[in-house]
Amino acid sequence: MVVDKSSERVRKMFGEIAPKYDRMNHLLSMNVDRYWRWKAVRKLAPNRNDPILDVCTGTGDLAFSFHKYTDGQVPVIGSDFCFEMLEVGRRKGEKSNRNVEFVEADAQNLPFEDDQFQVVSAAFGLRNVASTDQGLKEMTRVCKPGGKVAILEFSIPRYQPIKGMYGWYFKNVLPRIGQMMAKNDSSAYDYLPDSVGEFPCYEKLTERMLAAGLSTAEFYPLTFGIATLYLGTK
Ligand SMILES: C[S@@+](CC[C@H](N)C(=O)[O-])C[C@H]1O[C@@H](n2cnc3c(N)ncnc32)[C@H](O)[C@@H]1O
Repeated sequence: MVVDKSSERVRKMFGEIAPKYDRMNHLLSMNVDRYWRWKAVRKLAPNRNDPILDVCTGTGDLAFSFHKYTDGQVPVIGSDFCFEMLEVGRRKGEKSNRNVEFVEADAQNLPFEDDQFQVVSAAFGLRNVASTDQGLKEMTRVCKPGGKVAILEFSIPRYQPIKGMYGWYFKNVLPRIGQMMAKNDSSAYDYLPDSVGEFPCYEKLTERMLAAGLSTAEFYPLTFGIATLYLGTK
């Protein structure tokens, strides 16, 4: 089955779940998502000089983590093509006094010059982008030479029994709880396991990162491979 990732469908789906997105995220991942983002920021260890871009930023959690890590010393931009998700992010920034700039933009056509950012990241976002390769190319284009492209994404654990447990939770538990809470029409939480199943993971994604123009690409499975951090250098 090919998952429908048309911009209209994906934008509408996230627009509908935006007000509940953060709560659902933390609940369904049992808060482990916070640890994954923290781990990604620690691993990247951004400097205090150059700007950072987080694409598919949604409500901005990874962008806020970068802002916190750098003590607000560098500009952090969060971009996304879903206005409703960005609005939640903007409100969180105002409340917490974290000055992240939110920009409405498609990750496949970023409104930034070449070679701008020390880190270009996407957390649980690239999987939703209609063309993975075009998303990776754009992330690479706006990254500075020597900078990092970082992808944090769900992956399918390689080993039993985690692999079986994960498949069961993803197919049976998560869509039901998600649908019950989100009450949206676009089957966002059916879409989740389908899109994860279809997305290239581990070596398959690092190959695509190299093909997009990065000179190195490595991956680090997190929490038994439920999520994976991919790091590329331009
Ligand atoms: C699962 S959310 C992840 C949000 C956030 N990065 C996080 O870690 O919680 C995926 C986000 O990707 C955005 N997205 C999907 N396709 C996109 C595209 N082509 N351009 C920009 N944003 C996109 C959606 O609007 C949504 O906000």
